[in-house]
Amino acid sequence: MRLPEHGLSPDEVRAAWTEASADDVDWRGGRSWSLVYDSPDWHQDLVDEAAARFAHENALSASAFPSTQHFESEVVAMVASVVAPNSPAYGVFTTGGTESIMVAMKGYRDTGRGRRLVMPVTAHPGFWKAADYLGLELTLVPVDADGLPDVAELLDAAGPDTAAICLSAPCFPYGVVDPIAEVAEQAAARGIGVHVDAAMGGLFLPFLDAAGAPPPQFGLDVPGVTSVSVDLHKYGYGAKGASVLLFAEPELRHASYYVSTGWPGGAYAASGVVGTRPVGAAAAAWTAMRALGWSGYAELVAQVMGTARAIQAGLAEHGFQVLGDPPMGVFAAAHPEISVPALAGAMGDRGWWIDTQEQPSSLHFVTFPRHAAVLETLLEDLRAAVSDARANPDGAGGLSYGVMVRGGTLDEAVLRAHLDERFTPSE
Ligand SMILES: Cc1ncc(COP(=O)(O)O)c(C=O)c1O
Repeated sequence: MRLPEHGLSPDEVRAAWTEASADDVDWRGGRSWSLVYDSPDWHQDLVDEAAARFAHENALSASAFPSTQHFESEVVAMVASVVAPNSPAYGVFTTGGTESIMVAMKGYRDTGRGRRLVMPVTAHPGFWKAADYLGLELTLVPVDADGLPDVAELLDAAGPDTAAICLSAPCFPYGVVDPIAEVAEQAAARGIGVHVDAAMGGLFLPFLDAAGAPPPQFGLDVPGVTSVSVDLHKYGYGAKGASVLLFAEPELRHASYYVSTGWPGGAYAASGVVGTRPVGAAAAAWTAMRALGWSGYAELVAQVMGTARAIQAGLAEHGFQVLGDPPMGVFAAAHPEISVPALAGAMGDRGWWIDTQEQPSSLHFVTFPRHAAVLETLLEDLRAAVSDARANPDGAGGLSYGVMVRGGTLDEAVLRAHLDERFTPSE
């Protein structure tokens, strides 16, 4: 593929879009169980409009584009009103869960708190990546069968060299919420910071009342929690590229910034890793929050929990067990006999994009509002796939965190090759 001599017409370009996306997972049809967090059509259209309306404005410069400050500061304040209603919060807007983690860990590193991160093994690989990029060490603590770490073991692993203890609300693999209050209280007594990764739960858990369940406590109001990150492009229902990171102390926020002077091009000040980025992500996040309000989020939480509970009941009919006690629609389910890869393959053949995990072998679900409409079809297909998997237990299939694996071993070389492939045109 070379740059063509002449350009395509707009209609030709649109036709090429359709062709390029022909094999994309049908998330609009509710077939994806990760990666796309949908809201009702009227809401999503408005969010898309905001993202497109501000696609070219550059959030690198709030001086040139005051709209940046308007949207980012109000989104930060609205998120704080949900996850830190009674505490001071010093926030930044970032491009996603991974960048929020990276920026938070820089804040801990640059306030001289040590250079080691301590966390349950279930914390997102974004922390491992941050440790790699920032030159920090990592201590991973195992979790029990319920997906939770032992509080004493976690605290014993932390010491004066510890930059932060990192917990999740909830963790991605099992959807369970770490023992945040217990850890944070004792960490505070020892002067150790606690970051809570609420990428998934930040704009979901606080609304659980609407689904008849008590909301777990995880934000800056929990004594000892020193920072929390919340993704707007997950259950905040914004467009991709939006997250908020809140610190309990202004010093941490200052240390998290990258600023420099002396460059011939002028002064440089960035609140995150990325340079140029669209104001559209913040405009879309602002739109998502303002258009839903507390009641809108609560309704969507009630809808998602209704679907998640029905799926769990359907899985239980076939002998599946949900791991631990996940409060959200994010959960894993294991089976004592049925081969999970075979089942995931049989579901894949029926057009479902369902992740699998190996510790233990389990199906992984992230439930979205759109899934309410496909619940019956899912459960019917599950019944058929269960009998396929029993008949053909060696059938291989499934996805690992969105990476396609059809049998074989997932080692680092395979993953590098998988990334190489992304940049190789397929024709
Ligand atoms: C708990 C948790 N933290 C962090 C992330 C990373 O977020 P992102 O992919 O937006 O960088 C995810 C993504 O699923 C997550 O589930």
